[in-house]
Amino acid sequence: MNDELATIEMIDPNLLQDSREASFVQAMDRHAEPSQKSSQDQISHPYACTTAEPVDLIRIFHPLIQVVRWRRQVDPGIEAYLQQRPVNSHLRNGFRIVIPAGEGLELDFLPDLPGRRAMAQDISLIADIYSELLGCDEIALRLEVSSKAMCPRFHVDRTGIRLICTYRGQGTEWIDDKWVDRSKLGQGSLGLADDASGLFDTRTTVEAAAPFDVLLLKGSLWQENIRRGAIHRSPSVTAGSGPRILLVMDAIWT
Ligand SMILES: [Fe+2]
Repeated sequence: MNDELATIEMIDPNLLQDSREASFVQAMDRHAEPSQKSSQDQISHPYACTTAEPVDLIRIFHPLIQVVRWRRQVDPGIEAYLQQRPVNSHLRNGFRIVIPAGEGLELDFLPDLPGRRAMAQDISLIADIYSELLGCDEIALRLEVSSKAMCPRFHVDRTGIRLICTYRGQGTEWIDDKWVDRSKLGQGSLGLADDASGLFDTRTTVEAAAPFDVLLLKGSLWQENIRRGAIHRSPSVTAGSGPRILLVMDAIWT
């Protein structure tokens, strides 16, 4: 779907990593919980990293890091909310709005059924963290409801740093670029499937976010990132499993 390829505002050239780190770490104190870092937390390769701590989202500013995955627990209340058939029919294809930084999602955007408040609060929490991370003025927020893979081919978004959280269905997939030939992306594939175009070889493993994980994907419009970018795709939707529901955020500077 073209939406995932859409161009957003160019990144503020004055957005400096050092100043963002200081203010973001301070802001994260508001969301801090008495948890311990998992021993699994690591930067496995200077391309993608996984963490259990939202404060580590700051790693996305490392010049070589293209993907940061914040592992989160599934919220049973939100999961049950999104399983209710009236929710899907009310949401239809979802919605898109622009919210000012620091403001949450109004309840009215979500169907009035048990679990609505938890869902709105979770989206508001993610929006708060995202805006603090990027220091943006507004967030272009959309909730997508889809029964088919929106972007089934591997690609790089022409965006800055995009946030994706899949609440229902399989999470977004990505590949490390260690053994990738980026010239085979897009038209360079000459119409061949990704597994036949030479985009990647057998050493490449397709990684995937889990439901409720928050994923940051760095796009080609991020400063100094023009020939890099997170190589990702939408997962296939399993027949009969119901629609996939995901949250997408893009930062806006006014
Ligand atoms: Fe995309």
